Amino acid sequence: MTQNTKDTPEVDLSLRRFIKGLGAAAGGAVLLSQTPWLTSCTPEKLSEAVSEGPARIGIIGTGSRGQYHIHNLLRMPLVGKIVALCDDYAPNLEAASALVPSARKYSDYRKLLEDKELDGVIIATPLGSHARITLDCLSAGKHCFCEKAMALTMEECKQVYSAYKASDRVLFYCMQRMYDPKYVKAFQMIKTGLIGDVVGMRCHWFRNADWRRPVPSPELERRINWRLYRESSAGLMTELGSHQIEVCTIVTGLVPESVAGFGGIVYWKDGREVYDSVSLTYRFADGRNIAYESLISNKFNGMEEQILGKDGTVDLSKGVYYLEDDRSVYGVRRLLDQVKEGVFASVPTAGPSWRPELMGDHVPHYILANSTAKVSGESMIGADNDGSFEILEAFCQSCITGEKAANVVEEAYCATILCLMGNEAMDTGSVVKMPEDCKIPYMKF
Ligand SMILES: NC(=O)c1ccc[n+]([C@@H]2O[C@H](COP(=O)([O-])OP(=O)(O)OC[C@H]3O[C@@H](n4cnc5c(N)ncnc54)[C@H](O)[C@@H]3O)[C@@H](O)[C@H]2O)c1
Repeated sequence: MTQNTKDTPEVDLSLRRFIKGLGAAAGGAVLLSQTPWLTSCTPEKLSEAVSEGPARIGIIGTGSRGQYHIHNLLRMPLVGKIVALCDDYAPNLEAASALVPSARKYSDYRKLLEDKELDGVIIATPLGSHARITLDCLSAGKHCFCEKAMALTMEECKQVYSAYKASDRVLFYCMQRMYDPKYVKAFQMIKTGLIGDVVGMRCHWFRNADWRRPVPSPELERRINWRLYRESSAGLMTELGSHQIEVCTIVTGLVPESVAGFGGIVYWKDGREVYDSVSLTYRFADGRNIAYESLISNKFNGMEEQILGKDGTVDLSKGVYYLEDDRSVYGVRRLLDQVKEGVFASVPTAGPSWRPELMGDHVPHYILANSTAKVSGESMIGADNDGSFEILEAFCQSCITGEKAANVVEEAYCATILCLMGNEAMDTGSVVKMPEDCKIPYMKF
């Protein structure tokens, strides 16, 4: 590892400050044990890594997400230095090279993997190639950070998971919610009883955009619009749903055992093969459900991950929570509610005691003080301040220390298998159970 000799560029310490805060608070160690993947990137371990770093990083797939990671890496020079770039589509390789002119360029990823001066590799290619490149990366002895989801098929997921278990290399999946401070705080608040028993989950991601990119010539259609075709994409479930299903397995500590649902191409009938509308129910062994929906021809509902508790609701993506019986509701609001309730009680609509069961005026509380997010969920590249910077920084740090991050691969495995089960349920119109041969010891039902 090369010694860092740079002057002192800024390191973004937001997550570190947050972790430090957890450690300092009473019961901090207990809290940290609920999000064990953060123990590999504490502020103390970062200082150690910085004194040895930066890790030498290569990027395979320098399209939109790859270039987004480049921008983030350029903001963390103390832990990560981009030394190699690879893309088999010249315009995207050149665009990335313009951002990092000093990096070596490759058009074949196997050649990049032979590069001896590389500690870690980022894979930001289409889903269909994630498993092959990850397996080759681990065999080449490189640490690896792969974009979500893990793989296109369950068989590939099993192969990657076995290879990871047999390897001493670090592997990360870019499931950035695990490193987003407002999610981390919310996971802990839920686990310590803020909203009582979790009784259900309701997640959705709605957009109004066709997912298409302009294609310079027709033979590039399947390459550039890879998201639309089943040979390279598993559609809405892996592209969007994987993040949200993962949140549910983290919050409950359990994996749903079956799923049923429907999907279809409702609006964008343009030759695509993946559904543009999905609606599923994931079922846990104890009877709880996740209601999951995604649609890309109406954005009214935006993106939400609602964890429903007996005593309250956490909306993770917005960074707020609501209590069922909120004592902080101020007097005037209460009075208004009472007047409104009185009005409804006196409307003789369907009988004397009937009144519409409308959504209450719940008062939102911030999960982290003054930190909330209005998420349109429209971008195909990703959102700012969503944990992507922090998870990448944690990976670079792990490339230096060799320390694996707990649960990250396991959660990505569970989320990917669940998404693929969802697709199978929609394709076959049947209830799909977790296949026995896909179960790993990490999974609790
Ligand atoms: N975590 C997130 O929030 C998030 C957000 C956006 C995208 N992604 C993921 O990032 C990945 C890439 O998405 P994108 O939108 O950047 O796609 P993209 O099409 O813009 O970029 C993919 C790049 O990979 C290159 N490529 C394909 N096969 C290759 C190979 N064998 N060797 C070298 N290069 C190859 C393509 O030429 C292209 O430049 C996908 O897995 C996607 O799901 C994740």
